[in-house]
Amino acid sequence: MCGIIGAVSNSNVLPVLLGGLKRLEYRGYDSSGLAVINEPGKFLRLRAPGKLVELERAVSANGEISGLTGIAHTRWATHGPPTEQNAHPHISGGRIALVCNGIVENHEELRTLLTDEGMEFQSETDTEVIVNLIFLHMDKGSDFMTAVRTCIGSLKGAFALGIVNADEPGRIIGARRGSPLIAGIGEAGVYLASDISAMIAQTRKFIVLENGDIADIRQGKIEITNLDGQLQNRDTRISDLKPQAMEIGDYRHYMEKEIFEQGQAVSDTLEGRITASRVLEACFGTEAERIFDKTENIQILACGTSYHAGLVAKYWLESVGMPCQVEIASEFTSRKHPTPKNCLVVSLSQSGETIDTLTALDYAKHCGYAHSLAICNVPDSSLVRNSELILMTHAGPEIGVASTKAFVTQLVALRLLSIIMARKNSSSDLDEADSIRELRELPANVESTLELEPAIQEIAQQFANKQHALFLARGIHFPIAMEGALKLKEISYVHAEAYAAGELKHGPLALVDQDMPVVSVAPNDAQLDKLKGNIEEVRARGGKLIVFADSETRLSSRENLQVINIASVESSIAPIIFTIPLQLLAYHVALIKGTDIDKPRNLAKSVTVE
Ligand code: M6R
Repeated sequence: MCGIIGAVSNSNVLPVLLGGLKRLEYRGYDSSGLAVINEPGKFLRLRAPGKLVELERAVSANGEISGLTGIAHTRWATHGPPTEQNAHPHISGGRIALVCNGIVENHEELRTLLTDEGMEFQSETDTEVIVNLIFLHMDKGSDFMTAVRTCIGSLKGAFALGIVNADEPGRIIGARRGSPLIAGIGEAGVYLASDISAMIAQTRKFIVLENGDIADIRQGKIEITNLDGQLQNRDTRISDLKPQAMEIGDYRHYMEKEIFEQGQAVSDTLEGRITASRVLEACFGTEAERIFDKTENIQILACGTSYHAGLVAKYWLESVGMPCQVEIASEFTSRKHPTPKNCLVVSLSQSGETIDTLTALDYAKHCGYAHSLAICNVPDSSLVRNSELILMTHAGPEIGVASTKAFVTQLVALRLLSIIMARKNSSSDLDEADSIRELRELPANVESTLELEPAIQEIAQQFANKQHALFLARGIHFPIAMEGALKLKEISYVHAEAYAAGELKHGPLALVDQDMPVVSVAPNDAQLDKLKGNIEEVRARGGKLIVFADSETRLSSRENLQVINIASVESSIAPIIFTIPLQLLAYHVALIKGTDIDKPRNLAKSVTVE
């Protein structure tokens, strides 16, 4: 969840470190810090609690900070609160500075061992045991690399490390076990970072470190070995990330920008994947046809918003005769379960680095699940590299912590998968050409739904003083209600829960009064009459409803019921369309509440701890 950037350059690395942290801040933003070797044997370190702007202030207040080698970090606290002392880099013996993304599981045991050796700790973090252990090995005579290797050999957990030795300017050691880490090769320097965005201003050329890799990074040379010192060959890749795709432009927040990019994101995700009447199976990978032909059921694994996309897919897949289970990734690993025959594991993730999802995929493989497909937005991510079949969502970089365009493009990708599964099932009555036409119309439908913004902005006022909200829907739109509630709580801190509308009378109806806004989505589908009944149950108890309704439903506003009509769309794409007003509602409520929309408290974009 933390972000790492390191650089060895032929000019001052400070701008590279600060620029990199700015692009990595989405990974964690409760404190940050940097250390540069400003002369051999001497570190300059600055750390600050709070957002990156606090570190930038400290840098400005500190006058000249310069050096040709340095590391920096933006933190999402796990062990120890976000104070200056707990911020990275941690330094041991004045010689070794280290940044870490991840968790050292045996830190207590190591802390005792190091304390017995007379070492003192300055922080409450688990990370400090690593830097102290490296220093201890060096103090006992090991060279830098040997000390790092020996230390890593005694660590339990998942982590990515960046380490510098004040006595060896021009060198950074990076190590990966679990958490993502890449090395970059530029004209002016070499780099180490959690992802390519951090170094995109310097270079597009990078190497993805694999688990167990240790990278010895020096100007003009990157050597990768394993724990035993054996050389590892890793491909050099060229990123196609466009720096302008990460610019906020005229928008107030990345989330706003990303909501409004959804029409384009849908088009980009469809491009090259469909003909006029067919989904191209090969876009899932060269082995797709063989694997899909024998798939008898599907297990979807994901977290958070991606999990909600999986829940929508269950309706689509089962409607074409493909049995489908969906599970929160962190729960999937918590028990033994029978392994279904010829089951395709579909893992969904925007980042491709969510440790719960990666662990669940590993567990599924271990349990003997037949095949794997990743639907992901980040090329070269761990999930992509660990899956047999891949369908990239082309949402473009998603910076706002609240996932929006990634979700919508995941739904598009899952719809493509469902269409293929329908084709394989002779008893399915889904018309492929019709389904393709509906998908082709989707970008325009997304754009016109975004035009509801002024109406939604007004409705958002009703939430200004509210502490709680209920979201109701039926059938395939129940996961959309769940996603709407997650968006609202995540960025506005209004406590929001989603219920299947039929469940209302089984308990949550007791919560309904005039202070509990109830939001519902009403597509024109087979569930409509029952949903109308549930809406009346709320009204009869004085509840105030806001309903986003397909214009064909003929629902109209009256006392305690405010209806916002949405242009009628085919039921197959309705869940995608009904997502949009709920995103806009959450955004505008948060705007009124004045929260930090792109960086909501306590969260991070890439969740790399279990
Ligand atoms: O990168 P992933 O899609 O694997 O992330 C999963 C969740 O952490 C993520 O969707 C989270 O719930 C979002 N912040 C929701 O907006």
